[in-house]
Amino acid sequence: SVVILDYGSQYTRLIARRIRELRAYSVILPGTASLERIQAEQPQALILSGGPASVFEPNSPRPAPGVLEQGWPVLGICYGMQYLAQHFGGRVERAGRREYGKANLVHHTGPLFAGLEGELQMWMSHSDAVTELPPGWQVVASTEENPVAAIAAPDGRTFGVQFHPEVVHSPKGMQVLENFLELAGVARNWTAQHTLEHLIADIRAKVGDEKVLLAVSGGVDSSTLALLLARAIGDRMTAVFVDHGLLRLGERQEVEQALRPLGKALRVVEASEQFLSALQGVTDPEQKRKIVGREFIRVFEREARQLSAQGYRWLAQGTLYPDVIESAGSGEGSANIKSHHNVGGLPEDLQFELLEPFRYLFKDEVRELALLLGLPEPIRMRHPFPGPGLAIRILGEVTPQKLEILRRADDIFISSLRDWNLYDQVSQAAAILTPMQSVGVVGDERSYGYVLGLRAVSTIDFMTADWARLPLEFLDEVARKITRQVPEIGRVVYDITSKPPATIEWE
Ligand code: XMP
Repeated sequence: SVVILDYGSQYTRLIARRIRELRAYSVILPGTASLERIQAEQPQALILSGGPASVFEPNSPRPAPGVLEQGWPVLGICYGMQYLAQHFGGRVERAGRREYGKANLVHHTGPLFAGLEGELQMWMSHSDAVTELPPGWQVVASTEENPVAAIAAPDGRTFGVQFHPEVVHSPKGMQVLENFLELAGVARNWTAQHTLEHLIADIRAKVGDEKVLLAVSGGVDSSTLALLLARAIGDRMTAVFVDHGLLRLGERQEVEQALRPLGKALRVVEASEQFLSALQGVTDPEQKRKIVGREFIRVFEREARQLSAQGYRWLAQGTLYPDVIESAGSGEGSANIKSHHNVGGLPEDLQFELLEPFRYLFKDEVRELALLLGLPEPIRMRHPFPGPGLAIRILGEVTPQKLEILRRADDIFISSLRDWNLYDQVSQAAAILTPMQSVGVVGDERSYGYVLGLRAVSTIDFMTADWARLPLEFLDEVARKITRQVPEIGRVVYDITSKPPATIEWE
């Protein structure tokens, strides 16, 4: 295994993820973990993470005595490199100014950079710098600003890098990590199957013989979690799927089908009427979101009360690592609730222990698990769909009639994307029903029909997004089909705004 000693970097989990990507098993331990604790993991290599402290401060966190004397290959990143330099007899000082952002390695050499040629862009974020090397060590990379961007120990297996090879802004950073694993002789046979087995073992250990409740939304995270829990603890889990009447065409059936392996553990709650009557007459988008959230809690609370009376103690959520960072900033310790499920709004007297098995995973990793767990492809690769569902894709008041119109139009758009093999090429796609009616001609008569917006975007993180350049022939076909099959719609427009300034949704 690779033991990652954490000194508080925001990237520590990302390092672990990169090591998994390189098919090696890693464990994150506190930076001050004892030698015995580390030995118990039988490390083949250590990685010292970055961190906010300065190594020359008296109370800065550091490896326990003896840890760096075991002959394990070590890669120190940022703070980790500075610590190595200091520990082995070099010198670290506050740099004149903070180096932050993309930097080019104008010089690099040796096995850590094997296979890499020319200038390499790497991400820097530090205010301290190594100013004197330990005896026998060498500088193996420099940037224009920073003469000591990477260092190597005489043993040929211990290195420090001032940059962050783990982040996407270091495009060749993975090669550096891979070179280190190779030099360290780390076994590279870790697969998603192992991750799955670990998760199952963890869930069993944590939950014991207690029972777990889960809300499924039909998205990939909660559906995968439902299958995982079913495999880990069988019928000691109940998954509640609330049909709020704001789902897409056929979505409920699709989820029921996909989660058939759950058998009786899947509880589908039909609550459309409750949601639609609460939404009656409401036009403000934020108000609509609040109402859907509130009604969801009411329904879920009702179910949860019945179940908690039967001894359910755990509430499972498909929270992913990026959700954790987004809502907490640091990622450790605090229990965060995915806001769109709003199960965080449960009343005080109805308390569960939170179970978040995917807390340290990224979306693509969950999709890999989904594949192993047999989640059907359309759900596994599904675009995100907002918690309030079609309620925020009908601009203005939500009525059963408008829902019906939007469902049919949306289904044509989405199935056409699939037919044209475009679905997986965009990150999210949606049809939006506007309250606007525009004039058209049908036969010899003027007619009025709704304006329908089509939205498709490409994005990595959904924070910014570019409108998708869908082929014109495709858009033409979709517009024809929609106006032919959904006569209430008179005009179809395609949204060519990126985010920012627009958002992905229209409300
Ligand atoms: P925007 O529209 O803010 O959307 O660019 C970014 C991503 O968030 C989704 N979204 C929501 N998801 N509840 C959710 O669960 C919401 O109220 C909500 N609003 C937007 C949106 O679909 C996109 O993926």
